[in-house]
Amino acid sequence: MILKEIKNIYHKELDALYAKEEVESFFYLLIDHYLQLERFVLVIQPNLTLTKEEEQPLFEALSELKLQRPVQYIMGKTTFMDLDFEVNESVLIPRPETEDLVRWILDEADGRFANKKIKILDIGTGSGCIAISLAKHLQDAQISAMDISENALKTAKKNAESNSVKVDFSEVDILKSDGFVSGFDIIVSNPPYVRELEKKEMHKNVLEHEPDLALFVSDENPLIFYDAITKFAKQNLSKNGMLFFEINQYLAKETEALLLQHHFLEIEVRKDMFGNDRMTKALLG
Ligand SMILES: C[S@@+](CC[C@H](N)C(=O)[O-])C[C@H]1O[C@@H](n2cnc3c(N)ncnc32)[C@H](O)[C@@H]1O
Repeated sequence: MILKEIKNIYHKELDALYAKEEVESFFYLLIDHYLQLERFVLVIQPNLTLTKEEEQPLFEALSELKLQRPVQYIMGKTTFMDLDFEVNESVLIPRPETEDLVRWILDEADGRFANKKIKILDIGTGSGCIAISLAKHLQDAQISAMDISENALKTAKKNAESNSVKVDFSEVDILKSDGFVSGFDIIVSNPPYVRELEKKEMHKNVLEHEPDLALFVSDENPLIFYDAITKFAKQNLSKNGMLFFEINQYLAKETEALLLQHHFLEIEVRKDMFGNDRMTKALLG
């Protein structure tokens, strides 16, 4: 079949489910992933014809997109901070907002800890995206990461290997942990923070495919992870160590209050590219 016709079929089948631009983006991601074809191929070779074998994965992916399975899970990979990461249903798909958090940490590490061999801990590492991209940029840093999910940790370990960095991973339930190896200069976490009541704002592709364990907290105690991690950070950060969180946009004030209550200093909240309060930084005095 002619490639252009397959693109038309994608639009015919998917435009009712997704925005038109999103369908375009799926199509080009998938022809790159399965056939190593660049997006301008349709301009240069408008009549490019695929063999049955070549078109098969594109039609299989189309069926999965109709079921709203995220394209990153279909391809089994995504990019984060310009690095490739394997992803599957046991890990959250890394988000662009989280890249802003990593860039913030890199800026602060450059300023505050320049020339120091720093120790960093990522709590709830998932695919390992935060820990691994920090390890890639801060070559002298000693990076540890933890998660409660054995399967997430397996994926994170593979990602560290494929990106050629060393991260010490461990399986820990942060809600039950009271000690680790202390003396961290930076602790970072993007913990579960979506309340049950926010489910109605979420798309089916997130709700039905991404792991609940990575996303949800109860409406009654939405800051459960922030509370546990703040207490943990007080015990395990070194003096002048820094705590970074990705946060729930609706709970910025409450998260700030929690950090203040635990006597953290220089608390700052930053917005994401959509203008929502999305991350905090705090210093242990
Ligand atoms: C929002 S995801 C973040 C994943 C990754 N750091 C990222 O930014 O894409 C939260 C992660 O916390 C982990 N998690 C959930 N409960 C946990 C617990 N009690 N202790 C440790 N990790 C937990 C989940 O398995 C998940 O990988």
